[in-house]
This record gives sequence, structure tokens and C-alpha cells, in this order.
Amino acid sequence: MKTFLYPSDLGDLRQALAEAAEIKHDRYKYQTLGHNKTALLIFFNNSLRTRLSTQKAALNLGMHVIVLDINQGAWKLETERGVVMDGDKSEHLLEAIPVMSSYCDLIGVRTFARFESREADYGESILRQFIEHSGKPVFSMESATVHPLQALADLITIEEHKRTERPKVVMTWAPHPKALPQAVPNSFAQWMLAADVDFVYTCPEGYELDPQFVGDMKPEYDQSKALAGADFVYAKNWSCPGVTRPADYGKVLSKDMSWMVDTAHMALTNNAYFMHCLPVRRNMIVSDDVIEAPTSLVIPEAANREISATVVLKRLLESL
Ligand code: CP
Repeated sequence: MKTFLYPSDLGDLRQALAEAAEIKHDRYKYQTLGHNKTALLIFFNNSLRTRLSTQKAALNLGMHVIVLDINQGAWKLETERGVVMDGDKSEHLLEAIPVMSSYCDLIGVRTFARFESREADYGESILRQFIEHSGKPVFSMESATVHPLQALADLITIEEHKRTERPKVVMTWAPHPKALPQAVPNSFAQWMLAADVDFVYTCPEGYELDPQFVGDMKPEYDQSKALAGADFVYAKNWSCPGVTRPADYGKVLSKDMSWMVDTAHMALTNNAYFMHCLPVRRNMIVSDDVIEAPTSLVIPEAANREISATVVLKRLLESL
């Protein structure tokens, strides 16, 4: 595996889940695989879980780790070719990438959607430059359109808690005060559609996800109807993906608080587990009592980020 963005990069998901279970049972099983190998983790944006879990995963595999926060201590980077660099950006990504890659064996990149251009975001313009110019395996630590380490952790968590062979998994849009990217819902939908679950997503009109991730699947606009009989409820906010309303790409179209997941919503389900990738705004996305209930999986889900990252780094190391 030379890149990690999509479920297809891992191949057979059942095999990947078996590897995850093996690693969870003994997370140091492959501790010699990364001997004298270095992972470089590059953050253009903030992180708690991805930063810590990916470092821990690299340590599980015996790797060295270098973490670089681009906006805190590094030179400000220009990312567009052809720009006259007479502003505050001292270095171009096209020099920075080969320099950074000369110090490591694997590169993880966190680079969120900028909402300046849908074309640039959906073309993964920054991550693609790393893939093209680094000469090293590159994995997304949440890039403009995908968050595959999160989606794999979510899938592992569902596999561990499912009560039926093919559970009903419902992703529901929920309100948020600021415009958030579509990376988490895109990946969650894409991974659920590739897994052995019945997947439904629900959102207000205008929030339809890109066909690249959901194929021809349409959302259920009636949230109550979608939640009926759910075994897992995955809450997430996202801004307008610009599929049905291109001019509104990246905008907040609704702050309808009736979409917040509370006990009344959960009462519609099959005693569903509640999931969210975190960080979460309480009493915007989810009520206190739902996130604090015994059926809330947000902490085990976050803990599984270490397992998903260990599976992915193991696969990348095996390709060197
Ligand atoms: N879920 C997630 O990726 O968390 P961080 O943004 O804190 O890394």
C-alpha cells in the first residue's frame, strides 16, 4: 500500500478488520517492523486524537516519529504554483516536500478543506502534491475530502459492538455554529457502503454528499424516518458539499436545532449506540445525556484510532 485515502487502498475490509482485532489483542506484535524507520506527521491544522493516536501507532511498530506543525514554527508555505511570493509565505511546498521527505520513510498529512475552491478541495490539491513529489508512501490524517483513519476506527468500533450480522447504521447531520469540512461524512459513508452494514444518511436539503463517496445513494430528508430501528447513530455536522447547490459550497445552510441528537431521537432507534468522531460540541450536535449514556461509544471509538493507525502504518511499512 503506497497511499491511504480510501477503503479500496486496504483491499478486503474483512481482512483489515481481522488484522485490527489481532493488533488490538497484541498491539506490539509487529514492533520490529518499523525498526530504523521514521514517520513524519505533518499538521496544517489542529488535532488531538490523530496527533496522539498516530504517534502511538508508530511507536507500537518500533518507528521513530517526527511531528511538524506547519503553522507553528515552520516557514509559512505557499501551496499554489505561479504565485509571486512577495507576501508572508517564505517557502514553497514544491521545495518543502522533497526536503521533508528526505528525512523520513512515511508521511502523514493533515490538510483540511480551505473552502476557497471546490475544485481544489475535491482534487485534494495539497495531499496530491505530497503524493506526487515526496517519493514516499503518503497517508491522509484528514485531508480536504477524506478522513480514512477515522472511518477505519469507526468500522472497527461497529464490528466490536454489533448485535446483528448486518446492523443498520445511520449517519445524521446535526447543527454546528461554524462551517465544517465534509471529510468525515464522506469517508464514513464511503466505508459503510463498502462494509457489511445497512447504511442510511439523513440531512436537510442542500447537504447531499458527493457521488464520489455515496454513488447514486440519496439522503433520507426525514430524520425520524431514517433513525427508526437504527443500531448505530453516527452524528456529524458538515457544510454544504455543493453537489445540488454549487454556489453554496462550504456554506452553513441550516442551524436547525431540531436535528440535534437527543433522547427523543434515540428513542426512535433499536436502542442504538451513539457515535461521533470528536471533538464534539455538546448540546449543539448531541445532548449531554446521550453522549454520557452507557450506549455512547465516543471514547472506545477514539481509542480505536490507535488500532486503525497501527493497521495502516503496518501496511505502509510492508510496502517499503
Ligand atoms: N477525530 C479526529 O480526527 O480528532 P482530531 O481532530 O482531534 O485529530
